[in-house]
Amino acid sequence: MNTHVNPPARIGEPLSRVDGRLKVTGHARYAAEHPVADLLYGWVVSSSIAKGRITAIDEDAARAVAGVVEIITHKNRPDLAKADSAYQEQVAPPGKPFRALYDDEVQYSLQPVALVVAQDLETARYAASLIKVDYEAAEHNTDFRIAQGERFMPRRKRAAYQPPKNRGDVDTAFAEAVHQIAGTYHLATHVHNPMEMHATTVVWEGDERITVYDKTQGSQNTQTYLANVFGFKKENIRVLNPFVGGAFGSGLRPQYQAYLATMAAKMLERSVRLVMTRPQMFSHVHRPEALQAVSLATDAQGHLTGMRTEATTATSRFENYMETVVNWGLMAYACPNAEADYTIAPVDSYTPGDMRAPGAATGMTLFEIAMDEMAYEANVDPLEFRLINYSEKDAMHDTPYTSKALKEAYAEGAAKFGWDSRSMAPRSMRDGSELVGWGVATGMWDAMFQKTSARARLSANGDLLLETAASDIGTGTYTILAQIASDTLGIPVEQISVKIGDSDLPMSPIEGGSWTAASAGAAIEATCQSLGKKLFEAAQKVKNSPLADAKIDDVRFDYGRLLSKTDPDKSVSYGEAMAAAGEVSIEAEETVSAGISGMISQMRKSRNTHSAVFAEVKVDEELGVVRVTRVVCAVAAGRIINPKTARSQILGGVVMGIGMGLHEETFVDHRLGRIMNHDLAEYHVPANADIHDIEVIFVDEPDPEVTPMGVKGVGEIGIVGTAAAVANAIFHATGKRLRDLPITIDKILE
Ligand code: MOS
Repeated sequence: MNTHVNPPARIGEPLSRVDGRLKVTGHARYAAEHPVADLLYGWVVSSSIAKGRITAIDEDAARAVAGVVEIITHKNRPDLAKADSAYQEQVAPPGKPFRALYDDEVQYSLQPVALVVAQDLETARYAASLIKVDYEAAEHNTDFRIAQGERFMPRRKRAAYQPPKNRGDVDTAFAEAVHQIAGTYHLATHVHNPMEMHATTVVWEGDERITVYDKTQGSQNTQTYLANVFGFKKENIRVLNPFVGGAFGSGLRPQYQAYLATMAAKMLERSVRLVMTRPQMFSHVHRPEALQAVSLATDAQGHLTGMRTEATTATSRFENYMETVVNWGLMAYACPNAEADYTIAPVDSYTPGDMRAPGAATGMTLFEIAMDEMAYEANVDPLEFRLINYSEKDAMHDTPYTSKALKEAYAEGAAKFGWDSRSMAPRSMRDGSELVGWGVATGMWDAMFQKTSARARLSANGDLLLETAASDIGTGTYTILAQIASDTLGIPVEQISVKIGDSDLPMSPIEGGSWTAASAGAAIEATCQSLGKKLFEAAQKVKNSPLADAKIDDVRFDYGRLLSKTDPDKSVSYGEAMAAAGEVSIEAEETVSAGISGMISQMRKSRNTHSAVFAEVKVDEELGVVRVTRVVCAVAAGRIINPKTARSQILGGVVMGIGMGLHEETFVDHRLGRIMNHDLAEYHVPANADIHDIEVIFVDEPDPEVTPMGVKGVGEIGIVGTAAAVANAIFHATGKRLRDLPITIDKILE
């Protein structure tokens, strides 16, 4: 065995990010950072009204500015596809997708109405400030509470949205209940604010060919969209997203900067860059505002006997965006009588969309506040209340889970948190001038799997190249793919290059739904196994091969060698094997998919991740200031490929959950139909000083059935329930039940 080579990484090891050095040294390039010769810069002029028509655009002063190359509006735009279907990419909800600069119609405030293209960014920005747009305003409504009067359930449903299934006789359950509660819970609109703003650099390659660096969660989705909309041949568009500076769903659909930069490049036959400003980040996809009414009933001992959940979330006037909001509580808890209903209500805004754990972050979180209220009404400890109503199976679909180690998560989380020493009564715990509160909540998310392809090439010098079009949105995709290959083929990570984020690479879906580790991971594993088989065949061709009589199952792949499992002295190096086969490199390509049997099994079994979130808050009694001093998040998410990157995902989710509980909300001036806090000074997200101890636990949850590698995914589960644990802790600290997130100081002092 070669002792001088670095050891391979193992699945389950806390391997540091393989792209970490590139990132901290600034060598990782993001969409607006790729150097391009003769580049033009765009600047978007945004609508100042929420609804109506553009009657005139005065461009004269802007055109007179030296360095302005073109001003594009609906009047001089190039030809675009006419059918809505051309604009409906992988993630579009049913409806008529927005088309920037298509016609004179204004559908929401901050809608792009003109694009200035100039020799440099400053000129484009200055010229944009000189453009005068006249409008004929129409009546608009951006007030979600007023929109309740128009709520509806569209007949055509998005496949990802799962309608709830009712059970039992809920009316009788409430009539006979010993204890019951009812409340209406509200979640504010959240806006995507990843560090990297949406940006696109389109390189004009001539001959109707473009290379596009885009901030997207799916290069191939953007590629298809741009081809369909602008009439390019698909093979003439290459989309790259090697690094993405954060994306929690805002990069699932191609955003308008990609569309506008491509429009300008096509029209001018030049390379064009366009970056959204931070305020413009408030002009596209966002987590919809939500209202959710929950009623719960129990018997004398606190066993749930009835549940009713009705939620409405906001959508736009032109698309019906839906989430799976009301199902979670019905799935999670054993309760014989349960029903739920879900509707959407249109406002004059851009269409809402996915944001980290869409639907569950809203619905499960609000439901878990109601669960806390019910526990207090029934006088049962809130953790005990969840345990006595625990459901081993998916109680809504009446199907078993492939695995559900939530009980273990409650137990390990409670032990780490010290839940035992909690006193039940509100306002009963104190630390000097601060009231102390402890809250708990349950989290749930899906464990999904998507068809994905990968390719691997091993060179004679031992270097391994892995390729798949998957994205790394900061989650650690590069790292875990290298790690899986390293473990499968026994090649040190230092000799592995991972190429992702390029539409030319083998097919991969958008990075979403927490499915990338399970899906791209399985594709890489299958590809490496197939490469291993080819190596084995080559190793048997070595003269006097010590493995001549071996079967593939008799060998393992380690330290760059094929070794007999029973006699490690019998081995062939990869180099010897390839030389014997007369190859300078060996390649394999595989596609993994759930297949028919997988789909049948998906119907028969439920696949979910679970979490138990414990939060401690300290509330200044006079000032109402809340500090979340401790969070323990215990997660059951199947097999963990890399506990270090996985922990970071949960930490990020918990931080976002704290923001959901205490900070994030938009303020709209409904007279103008416009978000007024459209910058990071006034749209609050947690800052360093807001975050204290966060402890992440991964409980043991072996699950060979859920996905090929037993991986469930961890990108989203960390946010679900966290805000409820915080809200429940605030109730425990203050005795004040607040049903409106975020819980800000004014609400506490009111
Ligand atoms: Mo996630 S909301 O599917 O990026």
